[in-house]
Amino acid sequence: MPLNGIDAVVYGVANMEKCRKYFSDWGLKKIFGGKNKSVYETRDRSQIILCPQATKDLPKAIQRGSTVREIVWGATSKADLKRIEKELSKDRDVTVDKDGTMHSVDDFGLGIAFRLTRRRKLKDARRPMNSASCAERVNTPALYHTSVQPTHIGHCVFAVPDIKKLEKFYTERLGFSVSDYYTGRGIFMRAGKRGGHHNLFFLEAETGKASINHVAFGVEDLHELFGAGLHFQGQKHKVAVGPGRHHVSSAYFWYFDCPAGGATEYFCDEDFVTEDWAPGHWHPAPETFAEWFMADGIQRENLLPPTRESRDTKIKRKKNVRAGVKA
Ligand SMILES: [Fe+2]
Repeated sequence: MPLNGIDAVVYGVANMEKCRKYFSDWGLKKIFGGKNKSVYETRDRSQIILCPQATKDLPKAIQRGSTVREIVWGATSKADLKRIEKELSKDRDVTVDKDGTMHSVDDFGLGIAFRLTRRRKLKDARRPMNSASCAERVNTPALYHTSVQPTHIGHCVFAVPDIKKLEKFYTERLGFSVSDYYTGRGIFMRAGKRGGHHNLFFLEAETGKASINHVAFGVEDLHELFGAGLHFQGQKHKVAVGPGRHHVSSAYFWYFDCPAGGATEYFCDEDFVTEDWAPGHWHPAPETFAEWFMADGIQRENLLPPTRESRDTKIKRKKNVRAGVKA
């Protein structure tokens, strides 16, 4: 498998302070927070890198204003990196940093980079869940999450002028696999043969101009998705759409407007696909976007977290009730 997913997303932004707060509230771990560069990490150590948009050595922007400037793809061997360098050098500039990170550009002008992956394998963090036929969580209340550190960067989505050209570039030259199509309107692709449903989704741009749509972050499960979304909405960030559930990829989602460009998405429970997966052709329509969704988040202004009595207090109260003592 030459590439195994997204190692980092680099943004060039108009307002570093606002973006730093946004990704901190989003739940990412701050690794470095300088005026000219800030780095945040998910649980698997994939990174969000923020730089002022005028930074000289950033790849060229695909649009005006704050946006994604480069996606760094993780490779699993030096030989694969060499192969990619040879392939891309045929018709475009390729530069290599001292640390071995290779930089180039894709066919719609987005900066792309490649390095030996620095992400770590996530430990199994599943929590016991109860279903009607199987009780895994016994005599233990479930967790209610607030701030959640996302597990990984799952995918990036762009509106682009020519999806066919990009399908050819990513599949034929970088070894990506197609996961699904929005017939005539979009293409979902993944970097490896096996993995989460998509790492890239390109949508045909109605205006003919390229732009960032969103960057998506995985969370462990539904409890984390709702906890993270409620917490983030409570920090007064603007909901773009969600929560809801997609048809394509099966994932649950919650999107928020991002000051670094486009939106960011929490998602969970997406399809895991392999070489045996056959791409589907979906009719592009509003009903294809989601099985259900809420347009503006979840309103809970009047709901404060409940106070749970301690076990001793409950026992004491029961004893008092039995003894006829009024609370
Ligand atoms: Fe998404």
